[in-house]
Amino acid sequence: MDTARFPPGPRRLPVVGNAYQYRRDPLGFVRAAHREFGDIATMYVGAWPIVLCFRPEHVRFFLVERAAAFTPVGVAPNLMETLGEGLLTTDGEFHDQQRRLLQPAFHRRRVEHYAATMVARTEEMLDRWRPGDEIDVAQWMSALTLRIVSQALFGVDQEAAGAELNRAFVDLIANSPETIGLIRLPRLNLPHTRYGRYMAARRRLDAYVYDLIDRRRAAGTDGDDVLSWLLTAGADGTGLTDRQVRDQTVTLLAAGHDTTALALTWTLFLLSQHREAREKLLAELRAVLGDRPPTPDDLSRLPYLDWVVTESMRIYPPAWAQGRVALEPFELEGYRFPAGTHVMFSQWVIHHRPDIWGDPDRFRPERWDPAQPPPPHWAYFPFGGGPRACIGMPFAQMEARLLLATILQRFVTRLVPGHPVVPAPRITLRPKYGMRMILNPAPAARAAPPGVHAASDVAPPTPHARRDQDFGNQTGEKSTRRVVELLVARSVPRARAPHRLPPSTQACTGRR
Ligand code: HEM
Repeated sequence: MDTARFPPGPRRLPVVGNAYQYRRDPLGFVRAAHREFGDIATMYVGAWPIVLCFRPEHVRFFLVERAAAFTPVGVAPNLMETLGEGLLTTDGEFHDQQRRLLQPAFHRRRVEHYAATMVARTEEMLDRWRPGDEIDVAQWMSALTLRIVSQALFGVDQEAAGAELNRAFVDLIANSPETIGLIRLPRLNLPHTRYGRYMAARRRLDAYVYDLIDRRRAAGTDGDDVLSWLLTAGADGTGLTDRQVRDQTVTLLAAGHDTTALALTWTLFLLSQHREAREKLLAELRAVLGDRPPTPDDLSRLPYLDWVVTESMRIYPPAWAQGRVALEPFELEGYRFPAGTHVMFSQWVIHHRPDIWGDPDRFRPERWDPAQPPPPHWAYFPFGGGPRACIGMPFAQMEARLLLATILQRFVTRLVPGHPVVPAPRITLRPKYGMRMILNPAPAARAAPPGVHAASDVAPPTPHARRDQDFGNQTGEKSTRRVVELLVARSVPRARAPHRLPPSTQACTGRR
């Protein structure tokens, strides 16, 4: 490949290129590349160039204008290894036909049917929580969203079955094989190696899904859920093999729980650090819902809830970067690139561009007030866009809001003092050390006087509130470090609270 045509980028080392720097700190690396090289830069994994594209217009170019000229296939070999040929990892006619098959599951009316399941499963989870307990919110959110998506789309409603599935996913995600670009890092399939644990989790997951398929076939496939549609898709002769049904099922279960769980985890973290936003949100929930469970109809009357979730996914986008491979030559920013070029565009970078957001690292839900000027098109794209936009977006949007409202009606979570919060960009953006939080009871529900906008019902600043505001201008890479530094510097004693784990993880670790 003629590298002379590629834009300049961070200085690379012989043989490894930028792989080492990138692997050490992917988030820092891509933001630094943007700062230093502007709108477009090239990084090298070994001798292999990957073009980093940082403008919102680039996102539109790859996802909409020239969508057919780029494929996600081949971008993330580790994802393909886990998901097989599901919706995320295929292209062409097969992808489009599968997308048409699955699309009805995500129509707005149908998604609204799932709302009762979403709220009921959340309330069951909250019934297990006790004020004062210390929990890993990331684990609980993951178990909850997996239970919801498996019930809503696949009719799995027994808790024990859901717990088994969750255990397989937890192990799979924790041990998923690492890659940099196209390069697979060495892997040894032995019982105690990371890759060995990954393979064991994959076998358990496959056994679970194939068993689900067999049982559904035996019980009859005339049901009205995604699994039945996948199993009867072959009635016209095109036929899906069991392997293909497995791949779509695993894709929907994986993509349908991990991202939403992370969105909720990061939102609870941000709310724990920003007292004013938290108080505004609690006041809005009290005013609109009181004690009753939220429904989809309530969401239009909960604007602050909407801004909080939207802003949280700006600061901590669960899908932090996307990649494509060019199927034909293309031109961009005055460069001419050959077919086969790999490109990457990152929510993490574009959602934090200072020239677009002004104070990008600051958690400020009010920036989403419709009275404020909107951001430029494609400066915000947590769900991707164009013909391959996230199919689950309506599901996730509603789920994140309903779950957050339901949780905050009963509990307010506080970060365990000294717990390090470090964003770790794997396939999704996760908290590297989990998210250990202490459960406080939510203030008792009370109705606000009619006509009083909930946002005005804010507690006066307290020393604690001032500390929150201090953190407020720095949320992001630096602020997380700063939060931790300040908390540690104050030597706040570690809370001695009982430590509660989600049911599936309890079984996994033997703890109760
Ligand atoms: C906050 C939650 C979520 C986020 C941030 C998110 C983000 C994304 C993004 C950025 C893409 C585009 C990937 C690409 O073009 O390379 C995507 C695709 C996809 N998502 Fe989501 N997602 C979320 C929730 C869900 C849910 C709940 C489901 C299913 C129940 C789901 C299923 C999928 C599938 C199947 C695709 C592939 C679509 C295609 O290529 O045709 N996602 N998601």
